[in-house]
Amino acid sequence: MTTSPTAPEVTTAPLLSAQGLYVTFPGRHGGPRARAVDGVDLDIRPGEIVALVGESGCGKTTLARGLLGLVEPTAGRVTFDGRPLDYSGRSLKAYRKRVQLVLQDPSGSLNPRHTVYDAVAEGLRIHGYGGDERTAVAEALSRAGLRPPERFFLRYPHELSGGQRQRVVIAGALVLEPELLVADEPVASLDASVRGEILALLLRLRTDLGLSALVVTHDLGLAWNIADRVAVMYLGRIVETGAVEQVLTAPRHPYTQALLSVLPEAPGAPVILTGEPPDPSRVPSGCRFHARCQILASGEAEAAGVADACRGQDLEVLGGSGESQVACHWATSLRGAGNRATSHNAPAPGLRGD
Ligand SMILES: Nc1ncnc2c1ncn2[C@@H]1O[C@H](COP(=O)(O)OP(=O)(O)O)[C@@H](O)[C@H]1O
Ligand SMILES: [Mg+2]
Repeated sequence: MTTSPTAPEVTTAPLLSAQGLYVTFPGRHGGPRARAVDGVDLDIRPGEIVALVGESGCGKTTLARGLLGLVEPTAGRVTFDGRPLDYSGRSLKAYRKRVQLVLQDPSGSLNPRHTVYDAVAEGLRIHGYGGDERTAVAEALSRAGLRPPERFFLRYPHELSGGQRQRVVIAGALVLEPELLVADEPVASLDASVRGEILALLLRLRTDLGLSALVVTHDLGLAWNIADRVAVMYLGRIVETGAVEQVLTAPRHPYTQALLSVLPEAPGAPVILTGEPPDPSRVPSGCRFHARCQILASGEAEAAGVADACRGQDLEVLGGSGESQVACHWATSLRGAGNRATSHNAPAPGLRGD
């Protein structure tokens, strides 16, 4: 998985990159604007699979939509293949052929009245494909693991299993031969066994086609099984990023530690986060996590001499590259004092492959 021979070197230029990205939405009832994405740098290199993880409402889907050009950023920019996105109709259409969105089927990606053939051919028709449509559809279905493809052409979504429907959605993305997939919670509603199959499919597409992917998930176990790199998002920002093994076995940010501590495999007591659930229209000053931080609450931040900074000093936006980084006054102070990254609440080694 992360040791795959196709996993890219960190020095490769990014294929897709967000730089200083902000997306805000009008506040409810004239209140303050919601800062859904609040300063994000994120690179995805050719052939790389990056998992974007975080609780519901932290801005994952908005960031994904920003990367796809489906929402125009309030500030910052998105570049693809070295060029900034152009939000005019025609160039956006060309971009959306190269970067495909994969939603989960229960969100209504498939029209119940369209056959599998039409569902997969739709993208070809939108983009005025000049080649042989039937061959392209058959090949995409086959790549997505629906074989022999002809057997599926005239089926309707309700005649298929959940896993097969998700494969049709993936075939619809593959038929345009994209370079990158953005998969927003691709397996959230599937049974565990089917989940594994779909994840294996995504990994095989990377190996066979060199596809890159951003996989958005609230499930850290899924990130562990598929990603080279993970970015942990909290209230609009990436608060920790690095190689998946590093972040998930030696998490440095108290938020990442808390997320991992509630997994069934985790040793020790789960960390129950206190304080208000995060609200993007009221981002706290200082560290945005401080009001819920178990390290600040326990006095450990005070002991490390950083408690005032936690409450009053914002953190820098983390760089988008693959290196290990954390936005936390306390974690940075530990490293500065020559301590190793903490490993409390690290998951048991058996987590991978569950
Ligand atoms: N179109 C929109 N208009 C107003 N607020 C939005 C819109 N889309 C998302 N939000 C708000 O932005 C925040 C992040 O949402 P989202 O990106 O969907 O998070 P996630 O995918 O992590 O659950 C939430 O507070 C959500 O209510
Ligand atoms: Mg979402």
